[in-house]
Amino acid sequence: MKLNNLFIEPEGTINKKAFKPASYLRRAFEVEKAIKKATLTITACGVYKGYANGHAISEEQFMPGCTFYTERLQLQTYDVTSFLTQGTNVIAAIVGDGWWRGKTGANSTRNLYGDKIKLMAVLEIEHNDGSQTVITTDGRWKATQNGPIRKNDWKDGETYDATMEMPGWTEPAFDDSRWHSVYPSIYHGTLVPSEGERIIEQERFKPKVLQTPDGSTVLDFEQNIFGYVEFTVTGPGGHHVKLRHGETLDEEGNFTLKNVEFESRFIEMRLLQEVEYTLKQGTQTYKPSFSAHGFRYVKLTNWPEAVQPENFTAIAVYSELKQTGFFECSHSQINQLFHNSIWSQKGNFLDIPTDCPTRERAGWTGDIAAFCEAGSYQMDIYKFLGKWLKDLAAQQNPNGSVANIVPSVGFWKIIDGSAAWGDAAIIVPYTLYEMYGKKEVLEAQYDSMRKWLQFLENRAHKTPARTLLKGNPFKRNPYQNQLINIGYHWGEWLEPGHVMAKDFMRNLFVPDVEVATAYYAHAAELFAEISEVLGNGPTAKRYRALSEEIKEAYRHEFTEEGIVHSERQARYVRPIALNLLSDEEKEKNAALLNEMVIKNDYCIGTGFLTTPFILPVLTDYGYVETAYKMIENTQRPGWLYNVSKGATTIWENWNGIDDDGKPTDSFNHYAFGAVTQWFFSRVAGIRPLAPGFEKILIKPIPGGSLTWVNCTFESVQGPITSKWRIDNGNFHLTVDVPVSTEIHLPNGEIHTVEKGQHQFSSIM
Ligand code: BGC
Repeated sequence: MKLNNLFIEPEGTINKKAFKPASYLRRAFEVEKAIKKATLTITACGVYKGYANGHAISEEQFMPGCTFYTERLQLQTYDVTSFLTQGTNVIAAIVGDGWWRGKTGANSTRNLYGDKIKLMAVLEIEHNDGSQTVITTDGRWKATQNGPIRKNDWKDGETYDATMEMPGWTEPAFDDSRWHSVYPSIYHGTLVPSEGERIIEQERFKPKVLQTPDGSTVLDFEQNIFGYVEFTVTGPGGHHVKLRHGETLDEEGNFTLKNVEFESRFIEMRLLQEVEYTLKQGTQTYKPSFSAHGFRYVKLTNWPEAVQPENFTAIAVYSELKQTGFFECSHSQINQLFHNSIWSQKGNFLDIPTDCPTRERAGWTGDIAAFCEAGSYQMDIYKFLGKWLKDLAAQQNPNGSVANIVPSVGFWKIIDGSAAWGDAAIIVPYTLYEMYGKKEVLEAQYDSMRKWLQFLENRAHKTPARTLLKGNPFKRNPYQNQLINIGYHWGEWLEPGHVMAKDFMRNLFVPDVEVATAYYAHAAELFAEISEVLGNGPTAKRYRALSEEIKEAYRHEFTEEGIVHSERQARYVRPIALNLLSDEEKEKNAALLNEMVIKNDYCIGTGFLTTPFILPVLTDYGYVETAYKMIENTQRPGWLYNVSKGATTIWENWNGIDDDGKPTDSFNHYAFGAVTQWFFSRVAGIRPLAPGFEKILIKPIPGGSLTWVNCTFESVQGPITSKWRIDNGNFHLTVDVPVSTEIHLPNGEIHTVEKGQHQFSSIM
């Protein structure tokens, strides 16, 4: 479909630096004949809200959603038959900046995809007699920038002046003679129908009203979310109020945004997350249209009346994803941790998977690679991530390297291609295939994966001179060519005690060869397996052989005869989890890891990359009690430390609140929530034996203080339940399965069952 495109701000008025009011557009037209069906296809370079004769055309928010706009822009199609009539009609839209030219990413880049916002729409009306009326975005539309939304920015927030409202502007009777004309423009990328899930308003929360020590009035919604506040206020026209949104209170108990701001000699990053509102006379209700925030707390300034909790509602906004994983056990803090992981997913799954809903709001590839498995136990994310993967491929550099952030937020291209981040190109589709069993995602991404592998191969062959000269030339790694020792790599990232800025600086100068080589082997192995699934035998063979060589390179470089010597937990977990060593070597390293964890008082020592694997590794190698002690540990660093400090989402940093109560970094990063994959796959024991759970394994691993677990995963085959309890030393298991399932009981017994409910009891 060919869509005309409109520039909607008058030529010459666009000051790139200034924040801008939203644009209001309308088109009045006559319909002479009876209407059988009317369909509106619409999109914008920016974000829009559409109306037909005074009705909102959809309950979706932040349309057209977020894609790599340089290449791809989604369009939406709505049935508007019931809103139109024979006679005079109006279709209308408000267009704001959104991801297109609003602030995005850590550096709050603006005007990233363009400095002009645009609207494209076509209304197709079918009449009873078979004829058609077509209304497109042409010069007959009228626009104004003098509406109530005075400033709108994705990160900063919205400024609204209710005294400038234009009653009836989306209806036929409104006089638009003083609005200005619009003029045509072009969008150069490809228009694609909406591919993800609808973005809609979801849960609602009422606050507690706090008076903080500094004398401020702060609302506490008791759950950290992404969304906005709807409020009702009564006061004099012209009165200004302000709402600032933050995730936490500071060590003094006052509202703060410092944890997600950044200040150094070189860079300063401020975060506003603010709504400024000018009242009209009387009682009014408002919520923002084009900005949303990550928050639990809202600081009110200049409220004109007594602050009543019932006048405020926090509304969570995210993509409409079905929760498929439910987990509950006898340990209330573990249940809270599960809740937190679900909420970090909700808070970061708005059309794209983001790192956090505050500081950056960016589709960091490594974060979703780490969380993808847990995320697909928790919710049905097949379609959502399928869409995002298309952007990953569209944004992939000609040399095959994959961006750190998809869609781009204008971050330095020069450091694209980090190990484990770029590997999202393979890990994400592979995990989706494992979890949902659909080959389509592998087929769709195959070319992108192949290019990524070629990029890695090229990198591996570019060994820098300093490596060749290093050490004893006679003891050189015989697999030297399979080491990746160039490029920027984020590395393990955020191990306890690490500071982001410092690690970043170090990584700029010293490539993390261990992580890069490990992921190279992993990528080659997964690509071989995927090639096999897609019937590409020769490629499978080639990459399997390559992966074996890379593993040898890794083994030579980072182990002594297969044994790791390190002070870091990550160094043991990685080669075991990514299958880089022989079975016997893995056993030995797992034993060393176990000793190390015990010595570390069961505190976690891993960062983004190996946190998802540490508990699976410990349990799989028989260190069940160690794994349970680690999860139940409430000391810092540990998952339940965060819970004991009142977390309602997963923190970015193990040290999110220190001993003095000082908050650091984002409070809503799902990466460490990847531990829930262990809840499902080991504690409840629900795992796929064949892709998409076509065959199931249920192998619960009880331990620690847990006396019961109740878990359901709604797989594509149907719901799978694993429910166990321990009493008097007996283990009782009830399973409900949709297809043939192998049951492994803790005492070693194995049973095969078919569809239906089954019960087992055994001595522990
Ligand atoms: C983000 C991440 C991301 C990382 C890169 C951070 O600033 O919030 O979660 O993966 O940078 O290592």
